[in-house]
Amino acid sequence: MKIDEEALVSAALKARKQAYAPYSHWTVGAALFTKDGKIYEGCNIENAAYTPTNCAERTAFFKAVSEGAREFAAIAIVGGYDTKEPESICAPCGVCRQVMMEFCDPDTFRVILGTKDGVQVSQTLKELLPYGFGPDTLNEKN
Ligand code: THU
Repeated sequence: MKIDEEALVSAALKARKQAYAPYSHWTVGAALFTKDGKIYEGCNIENAAYTPTNCAERTAFFKAVSEGAREFAAIAIVGGYDTKEPESICAPCGVCRQVMMEFCDPDTFRVILGTKDGVQVSQTLKELLPYGFGPDTLNEKN
């Protein structure tokens, strides 16, 4: 299914409105697109104890996987301070890149970074996480 990158950024901007970020005030939205055309939205969810905080990207992945989705084509991400619409890109943290590595083909899965003005960056997971460690590493016969 063709990826409409601009529509995915719009979905991420919408998802960001649900962010719960009373500590950092940095709100993030993500929209995860499955190979069969479904969109799972996610936002960051913070916690008074700080470390239980979940990023927007992982919220989207965990929603999707918990509902049976396993095949993903792309994710759009937007983020910034809660006082205004994102004017700069928000790149995914290392932990979220690793979660992508678990479920996505690094050569084809696209990570789209947007702002209020739409798509700014579109790269493969491999470009964002070169030499990633994933399920295929463990499957290699030595
Ligand atoms: N955050 C995300 O949700 N995704 C990212 O890619 C970067 C960081 C969240 C975690 C925390 O709630 C806030 O942004 C500030 O780090």
